[in-house]
Amino acid sequence: MRLGFIGLGTMGRPMATRLLKAGFTLTVHNRTASKAHPLLEMGASWASSPAELAQTSDVVITILSDTPDVEAVLFGPKGIWEGIRPGSVLIEMSTIAPDAAVRFAQRLTERACEMLDAPVSGGERGAIEGTLAIMVGGREDVFHQCLPILRALGKTIVYTGPNGNGQKTKLVNQLICALNIVAVAEGIHLAERLGLDVETTLRAISQGAAASWMLANLAPKILQNDFTPGFKIALQQKDLRLVREAIQRTCGREAPENPDLGPTAFPGAELAFRLFSEALREGLGEMGTQGLIVLYRHRA
Ligand SMILES: NC(=O)c1ccc[n+]([C@@H]2O[C@H](COP(=O)([O-])OP(=O)(O)OC[C@H]3O[C@@H](n4cnc5c(N)ncnc54)[C@H](OP(=O)(O)O)[C@@H]3O)[C@@H](O)[C@H]2O)c1
Repeated sequence: MRLGFIGLGTMGRPMATRLLKAGFTLTVHNRTASKAHPLLEMGASWASSPAELAQTSDVVITILSDTPDVEAVLFGPKGIWEGIRPGSVLIEMSTIAPDAAVRFAQRLTERACEMLDAPVSGGERGAIEGTLAIMVGGREDVFHQCLPILRALGKTIVYTGPNGNGQKTKLVNQLICALNIVAVAEGIHLAERLGLDVETTLRAISQGAAASWMLANLAPKILQNDFTPGFKIALQQKDLRLVREAIQRTCGREAPENPDLGPTAFPGAELAFRLFSEALREGLGEMGTQGLIVLYRHRA
């Protein structure tokens, strides 16, 4: 089976590396070509466009930033659509709007191709170690066909139903993650403002009921003032925008608008969206999500 991989960013590069190490024949493409060099040195082939990559691949994998980026790489000039052969499968692993995932999958059927929406969770470390959680929407037989590929990338791989359900599941994940990040940043900021030694505070609380993935992974970075991105604030804000759009589309009219917190059915989503949007406006978008603490410090 010949694989093609497009999008060699924070997540894509280690994921493509794992596929090569697992023995798959891999062709890669990235808008910024230089990011492919380490993979080419490991034995991957280069395609000069998504169309060229699709021509030589049985399965194409994409992990790009946002919905318009995926649409451009799929259907834009020299996009996957121009090269994809009947019977091929697209595994689309970016976090994008669920309705767009459904639309893309439907259009691909016109070429007798299938698509899985298969967004991931677990961060850069999960991508490096192959321990990602992967939530998959699409046809169940196609899911089973692609499992050997997904098993090289993730540990918890769950079939969630038809196209779009993978992305919907991911939005649930992202809302919970964002509120956890807010909790960790705000809690550490409270410790700072109360004059506590933050390291001692974290030692005291990190094995109790406040324990979480975010506390374990992001709090040590905050302590070091290390804001290098695993997951960028700009991408978290994008995911909260997608959560908000999904809420508005699905149940926007159920709850009256609250002047402080928007649709009252999901006040947490609104609060997190506002905080991450403010962080973006303050120029923190390229920081990892632990950089939300900087917003609190600016405000203090
Ligand atoms: N980082 C995480 O912890 C994490 C975890 C789970 C899910 N995700 C999701 O995974 C996706 C990728 O995240 P990431 O952290 O890897 O992002 P990233 O480091 O910013 O990488 C984005 C990739 O998409 C490419 N790209 C973006 N826009 C493009 C366009 N219009 N045309 C062609 N290529 C384009 C970039 O190409 P260039 O190299 O040329 O810029 C790069 O390869 C996002 O949807 C994100 O929400 C991320």
